[in-house]
Amino acid sequence: MRTVHSLKELRTILRGYRRQGKTIGLVPTMGNLHEGHISLVRKAAEAADVVVTSIFVNPMQFGAGEDLDTYPRTLTEDQEQLEAAGNTLVFAPGVEEVYPEGLARQTQVVVPEVSDGHCGASRPGHFEGVATVVTMLLNMVQPDVAVFGEKDFQQLAVIRKLARDLMLPVEIVGAPTIREDDGLAKSSRNGYLTPSERKIAPVVYQTLQTTARELTGGRSDFQTLEEEARNRLAEAGLRPDYFNIVNSQTLKPATTEDTDITLLVAAFLGSTRLIDNLSVSR
Ligand code: PAJ
Repeated sequence: MRTVHSLKELRTILRGYRRQGKTIGLVPTMGNLHEGHISLVRKAAEAADVVVTSIFVNPMQFGAGEDLDTYPRTLTEDQEQLEAAGNTLVFAPGVEEVYPEGLARQTQVVVPEVSDGHCGASRPGHFEGVATVVTMLLNMVQPDVAVFGEKDFQQLAVIRKLARDLMLPVEIVGAPTIREDDGLAKSSRNGYLTPSERKIAPVVYQTLQTTARELTGGRSDFQTLEEEARNRLAEAGLRPDYFNIVNSQTLKPATTEDTDITLLVAAFLGSTRLIDNLSVSR
């Protein structure tokens, strides 16, 4: 498995694969890889001959006061995991490679509507940063397929829409959330949790499951359900950012006619922000 840091080198290698008629899969990440990321690499390897995993902590998607500087950077460990998972190529560019003219001068991709609300409301500019870097990575690698996790439900919706709206010739594939044994969604940010916070963290998924049971049981008083869920999180010692019951396609508040509903949650545990979601059909 090779690791390249420059776009020029990446393109030279990929040209070779394409000449051999090989299909290419891309898995964009910010590194500090865990089983969730690796499941995406495996999925990409099933769908394409060659898998490129990108590792880039994208400054454009971090807000002021967020964890850009402390975000874990663990390239050597990441390389070992990727090698074992059958990854072909690691693309780990520096910030100057991706944004040679600086962030302020960078053309941005704005995805309307699905970027609004939820994480988009709590983290202004976040999805513009994600949409911009993902569009750039798709153009750098020009993959046949790109795989993203359902763990970041709103992010996946934003990426699906940008690929559709910009007519990008790529298939966007979603992959299910990989969890710890106690239900906590795997995340690079779980490493920030203290041992006592880690014991509380599974309440996020438990609260999603409880609300999902109420919904499949026939309840449609969405606002009351949201409030009950927020209270449950608060009682356990979390600080809810949002708990929203939405239409799975539009991410707008669910109505009683909706058959595909998704519960979206973000909550702080100490200074760590955890997000998760659960979809229900009824
Ligand atoms: P990152 O948080 O590193 O996640 C990279 C990919 O892994 C995303 O598609 C995310 O949804 C997926 N992922 C994370 N945890 C997962 C889990 N427990 N199970 C399944 N998949 C999981 O998301 C980003 O990076 C960035 O925003 C990025 C898309 C790379 C753009 O910078």
